[in-house]
Amino acid sequence: MEPFAGIGDNAPEHERIIGWQAPPLKFGVGATRELGYELAAAKVRSVLLVTDPGLAALGLPARVAKQLEQEGLSVSLFDRALVEPTDESCTLAARELESLEVDGYVGLGGGSSIDTAKMLNLLLSYPGHPVRDYLNPPIGAGRPIPGPLKPLVAVPTTAGSGSECTAMVALGVTGLNVKTGISDLRLRPTLALVDPVNTLTLPPAVTAASGYDVLTHACESYTARPYDRRPPYPSPADRPLYVGANPISDIWAEEALRLVGRYLRRAVLNSADLEARTGMSRAATFAGMGFGNAGTHIPHACAYPIAGLVRDYRPDGYAVDHAMVPHGAAVVSTAAAAFRFTYPTAPERHLRAAELLGANLNGITAANGADVLPATLRSLVADTGGPGGIAGFGYTQRDLPALVDGALKQQRLLVCCPRDVGARDLQRILAESLAD
Ligand SMILES: [Fe+2]
Repeated sequence: MEPFAGIGDNAPEHERIIGWQAPPLKFGVGATRELGYELAAAKVRSVLLVTDPGLAALGLPARVAKQLEQEGLSVSLFDRALVEPTDESCTLAARELESLEVDGYVGLGGGSSIDTAKMLNLLLSYPGHPVRDYLNPPIGAGRPIPGPLKPLVAVPTTAGSGSECTAMVALGVTGLNVKTGISDLRLRPTLALVDPVNTLTLPPAVTAASGYDVLTHACESYTARPYDRRPPYPSPADRPLYVGANPISDIWAEEALRLVGRYLRRAVLNSADLEARTGMSRAATFAGMGFGNAGTHIPHACAYPIAGLVRDYRPDGYAVDHAMVPHGAAVVSTAAAAFRFTYPTAPERHLRAAELLGANLNGITAANGADVLPATLRSLVADTGGPGGIAGFGYTQRDLPALVDGALKQQRLLVCCPRDVGARDLQRILAESLAD
């Protein structure tokens, strides 16, 4: 195929086009009451409501199901979405539900429930295709989704993953002890319905970990290799979902950072603070609008093996009976070292991110500011009871080669790093993060 060139320009040296997409959004206190109206508007009459056992125990899914039934919808409930889902957990759920006929989906919960809903929509719409067909290479075959999916409304109950906005799912791969994902435009929810009231029952540790995910989404997408510092794509079909930092995603990332700086501590320390909860819900969604198009880099690439190789760490606040590192805790644990590494590529961006989070830049210049963003992140995490480093999850120096190996498999993310990053760099970043 001929190179894809701009009109009147036969050979651009760098990419010049930004791809940016987002779902329609309904946001605000009480928005959950409008779920039935929205499903009806999408011509959905029978729906699978996907949630997790912890949320089911709190009663919200049952209340939502009852409300939808009163509005004339037929509702099936799947309330066993795994926290940090895997290819196997999704395959087993799809097998169990294979005879179910619905014409729409609701993902109600954190990123895990929303991602499980996305996967069930995919696996039940196109039976017979194993999950690995779709997983990002090199772990999977990276095949595109064969056709359209059914309408899916995402109703987050955490302020974290931004999965309500994004065209991807994150999955553990059973047997390989790694996490990876599926990226495909068809996975983007039909509607993001965000009601801050649904986050009021989150325990402080979950609020904090979810908030760290928002924080790193915004910082990573804001500092990602810019869209116009990449070679041009041979054709529009080759342009990835993650195009790099760009002026459109920057707007969302900057506002997310400002909101996290203002509200994360308040939301963790006083769970009933609805203004702070609303601020964090906005931050999560805004960060999703940004990173879902720009991309994330080192902290997310490292988080996958940090979560995948965990032996016996069990986090506070999570109703799980297996070892796990919450995604948000995993991503933030290498963030300080990662942003120290990327600082020289764009000091002004790193300093601006810190300033938006509340740092005072008096007397700071590009030459002396390398530790400002790392220090700002560390203080936010310390004030909200977060991890001091990956040693807290049980990792030691001996684990570093395996963690480096796992991070190197996330090339889709590492290409978004603003400077080239290899095994020795990752080894240093992870070593610094043992007890950063
Ligand atoms: Fe994330």
